[in-house]
Amino acid sequence: MQSKISQYTTEINAFEPKTAEELETFRIKFLGTKGIIKDLFDEFKAVSPEEKRVLGKVLNQFKQLAEAKFNDHKDNFTTGDAQSKKEDLTLPGEGFEIGGRHPLNLVRKEIVEIFKRLGFVLAEGPEIEDDWHNFSALNFPEEHPARDMQDTFFVQKPTNNSENTAEEKGAYALRTHTSSVQVRLMEAGKPPFRALMPGRVYRNEAISARAHCFFHQVEGLYVDENVSFADLKQTLYYFVQELYGEGTKVRFRPSYFPFTEPSAEMDISCTICKGAGCQMCKQSGWVEILGCGMIDPNVLDNVNIDSKKYTGFAFGMGIERITNLKYQIKDLRLFSENDVRFLKQFQTEVI
Ligand code: PHE
Repeated sequence: MQSKISQYTTEINAFEPKTAEELETFRIKFLGTKGIIKDLFDEFKAVSPEEKRVLGKVLNQFKQLAEAKFNDHKDNFTTGDAQSKKEDLTLPGEGFEIGGRHPLNLVRKEIVEIFKRLGFVLAEGPEIEDDWHNFSALNFPEEHPARDMQDTFFVQKPTNNSENTAEEKGAYALRTHTSSVQVRLMEAGKPPFRALMPGRVYRNEAISARAHCFFHQVEGLYVDENVSFADLKQTLYYFVQELYGEGTKVRFRPSYFPFTEPSAEMDISCTICKGAGCQMCKQSGWVEILGCGMIDPNVLDNVNIDSKKYTGFAFGMGIERITNLKYQIKDLRLFSENDVRFLKQFQTEVI
């Protein structure tokens, strides 16, 4: 084995490749998977332990020599002419990935587009709200459970002394719904109003597949003379046909919200089983998508709108819920975990 190695060493030292092919032949002969070095290592396994000590070192040096020779020459042939001959310039270039829109964003956009066609304009408000806009103006009684610590994230008011007074304590909160924007809009202008209010809202709930401490709502508001419940129904009916496709059925169930009277919740025929009954609709054939109602005259009075002259309707929906039904998503947490494998599935448009 020793003599073989020294013979090959001489050969390698003398080797000066002139073409890429010569170098490749060299690589296959010495370094290939069936090459000489592989054979020598196989032979090495069989020698006695004493010999191994000496031979191991020699063999490793020999391997390094062959590799060094190959590496020294490799670069001479992979750049310049030899390389350009191998390259196929007609191949398409390497693509690079650009970001896509978030599914909630896509659906919000779709909702907004539908209502824009009905003449609704967009309105916005702050995420940190005072008690008046989030609760009091909306006719929430003092003791209403939604004001409770369990549902609402209260926010400390910045003061010079570190502690807020008892009075200040409930004064600011992360808005629990976008209905607060209704109040701001009506306070700032005169009817008629026809506005859509998308935004993020916060509730103090444990995070699970079905609940999150924040989510996104779109609220709608329509105030004018002679606005009736029929207008509300027709508006929402149109919205559902546009978003979920023609033939989607709707039904209204009586409900309660402090700021609407009468109030209702609207269901649509299940988007998955089309009403036959499945897991998604808990075999009922219907799924709830929003809350709505005629604006309570107390709310209009609170924002100085003549409730004898004007009436209006409002509705509010969670974008997550609408998106879940549209794409059959079962876990709310997916929306905020930024898992690219999930988000990639919604890249329906190029930005
Ligand atoms: N603000 C209500 C909620 O967050 C939804 C709603 C809006 C209901 C407008 C009726 C009218 O649940």
